[in-house]
Amino acid sequence: MTNNISLRKVQDSDLPIFFEHQRDSVANQMAAFPARDKDAFMAHWAKIMKDESVILKTILFEGQVAGNVLSFEISGEREVGYWLGREFWGKGIATRALSEFLTQVQVRPLYAHVAKHNIASRRVLEKCGFAISSEDKGGANQSGEKVEEFILKLSA
Ligand SMILES: CC(C)(COP(=O)(O)OP(=O)(O)OC[C@H]1O[C@@H](n2cnc3c(N)ncnc32)[C@H](O)[C@@H]1OP(=O)(O)O)[C@@H](O)C(=O)NCCC(=O)NCCS
Repeated sequence: MTNNISLRKVQDSDLPIFFEHQRDSVANQMAAFPARDKDAFMAHWAKIMKDESVILKTILFEGQVAGNVLSFEISGEREVGYWLGREFWGKGIATRALSEFLTQVQVRPLYAHVAKHNIASRRVLEKCGFAISSEDKGGANQSGEKVEEFILKLSA
């Protein structure tokens, strides 16, 4: 476990780094979420960076951009998500980053959708106090593949 983690506002210069992180095929399989091409990625981030209901933070590890953690509303529920570059996995960074994010974002309940096979992400959420509240057997990812998910909830 490391304590050398901080969150800061997302800067435009982070986007090429996030772009590389989100097109890692191992990560795509883990998250059951496909990579966006450059145009789609930049358009998506331009949109969410303008949207005041979306909370976006860059995760810094020893001063390096390790990934991002974010929160958005969908169907009236507030969700969290996060994504790290593969070189930063397995160091406790996501757990520390989400835990810090939860001190800054105090809306409850909070939800997260996690592919059932994404053991690491489920552990991150559970270590931060989330618990499984339901399942979604019918979800499809952006490639149209069926993905079974757990929905985890952080209660008040
Ligand atoms: C999921 C992800 C954020 C985890 O980040 P991380 O910094 O490696 O996680 P941590 O080091 O904080 O580890 C959290 C727990 O998961 C476990 N873990 C980490 N990688 C694992 C793996 N590949 N398989 C099983 N467990 C794993 C750790 O051992 C730890 O549990 P423990 O404390 O009980 O030992 C990172 O792998 C990632 O960005 N993946 C791609 C994107 C993604 O899946 N996002 C989430 C979508 S819901």
